[in-house]
Amino acid sequence: MKMAIGSDHAGVELKRFIQDSITEVDFVDVGTDSGESCDYPDYIKLVAQKIQRGEVDAGIAICGTGIGASLVANKHKGIRAALCTNEFMADMSRRHNNANVLVLGSRVVGLDLALRITRTFIESGFEGGRHQRRLDKLADIENNQ
Ligand code: RB5
Repeated sequence: MKMAIGSDHAGVELKRFIQDSITEVDFVDVGTDSGESCDYPDYIKLVAQKIQRGEVDAGIAICGTGIGASLVANKHKGIRAALCTNEFMADMSRRHNNANVLVLGSRVVGLDLALRITRTFIESGFEGGRHQRRLDKLADIENNQ
């Protein structure tokens, strides 16, 4: 599995920790690379664009709360970004919502919980069926703006 991963300054430590800990995923790191203050849209949009172009299978977007990263990612057509604060949400975001971006708030979840959330997201899968019908309606909204 190939995943884009990006964060603002608040998420750099968690971004590095995830890449160091999950070795079975081929990560494409889109930055930022330092703790110097920056603007989350500049990096989260790169995660979304990599998915839109088919360069990666999914993405991870991190900021302090996860809220800004969610807002940015979900502005992109075809992106279903899920801000998850526990493993249940990560599992359901894949099973029911077919989320293609996991969003984490580095100031909300600790490193260990974030890692468990990420592993759950990676290991879970979409159930289809009635959930696909709902996602089709989501796409209809997106396509008729
Ligand atoms: C940065 O201080 C912070 O505002 C950002 O990481 C994020 O939490 C925004 O939603």
